[in-house]
Amino acid sequence: MEDFKEKKQIFKKSILDKKTKIYIAGHKGMVGSAVWRALVSKGYSNLIGKTSKELDLTNQQAVSDFYNNEKPEVVIDAAAKVGGILANNNFPYQFLMENLQIQNNIIDGAFKAGIEKFIFLGSSCIYPKFAPQPLKEEYLLTDSLEPTNEWYAIAKITGVKACQAIRRQYNKDYVSLMPTNLYGYFDNFDLESSHVLPAMLRKFHEAKINNHSDVTLWGSGTPMREFLFVDDMAEAVVYALENNLPEYLYNVGSGKDFTIKDLAETIQKVIGHQGNILWDASKPDGTPKKLMDVSKMKELGWQYSTELEDGIKKTYSWFLENIDVLKKIKL
Ligand SMILES: NC(=O)c1ccc[n+]([C@@H]2O[C@H](COP(=O)([O-])OP(=O)(O)OC[C@H]3O[C@@H](n4cnc5c(N)ncnc54)[C@H](OP(=O)(O)O)[C@@H]3O)[C@@H](O)[C@H]2O)c1
Repeated sequence: MEDFKEKKQIFKKSILDKKTKIYIAGHKGMVGSAVWRALVSKGYSNLIGKTSKELDLTNQQAVSDFYNNEKPEVVIDAAAKVGGILANNNFPYQFLMENLQIQNNIIDGAFKAGIEKFIFLGSSCIYPKFAPQPLKEEYLLTDSLEPTNEWYAIAKITGVKACQAIRRQYNKDYVSLMPTNLYGYFDNFDLESSHVLPAMLRKFHEAKINNHSDVTLWGSGTPMREFLFVDDMAEAVVYALENNLPEYLYNVGSGKDFTIKDLAETIQKVIGHQGNILWDASKPDGTPKKLMDVSKMKELGWQYSTELEDGIKKTYSWFLENIDVLKKIKL
């Protein structure tokens, strides 16, 4: 990675205005919808989004036609085939190939359409399994990946590298943001495929309704994890949009981690569940610690604002307001 301090000198405001035509790929997803809301609230009035039914991003011709017809000026790529460990493990080919296709079409299509600014979203799983903690951007490609999600990670690394290559060779502002574990509005609460926070939230909610029955959680509760409220993630995307960040890759997180036990107790308190928490130590814990080093974004002027308990309160209110809709989908 080039010298960060030196490059920081050329950090400058981006030249977009509130009428700039911005395409948000994956605008109905958890991250894309948060970005859409953040941009609308800041007065951006020329946003475009297409569902996968309207525009299948794995279809190269359709993506190329979309760029030619719509002519967006900026692209935010929050579209991906995402899923938990089980899905990644069971469908390695789809996780590798569909993500490569989506990215290739959307990145190369943007490049060929002459788009100057592109924000690519990846994930902390791009870093090696045994990289030192907290995870710094420069650890990328220094060792082997976690085997269960390496298919997804390799696709994402390819996206980061494609954007870096365009940036380096053509001097365009193509930048990648790597979020930590996100949670919040429009999260997935399906127990089969959800991440730890929404899964716990749902379990405690159901236990509360069920006369405060006990809640059994996987593992020992000792692993440490970092979480970021999705609206804070959206603010980081807007920050990258409104400024030309000097590097090609940035971690986005809170920089703070919590034990899974702390997380469970915080959720229990927010929900008002009064039963016991039981830990099933026969179930795997996963990696003992996963924390991002977020000092680069902080040095440039962006940091998170929603503390974990506040974010969980907002998420739970949203969950209660939308429970009927969620039931129709998967709950
Ligand atoms: N959630 C997290 O904790 C987390 C953490 C780190 C990084 N990220 C990253 O953030 C990005 C967005 O994640 P998310 O959590 O918002 O996922 P999500 O809620 O599942 O949304 C993914 C979006 O991608 C779209 N999409 C998928 N396949 C498509 C296709 N073939 N054509 C067009 N659109 C397609 C979906 O559109 P339709 O709904 O119309 O099908 C959906 O809107 C991903 O790159 C992910 O790696 C998320």
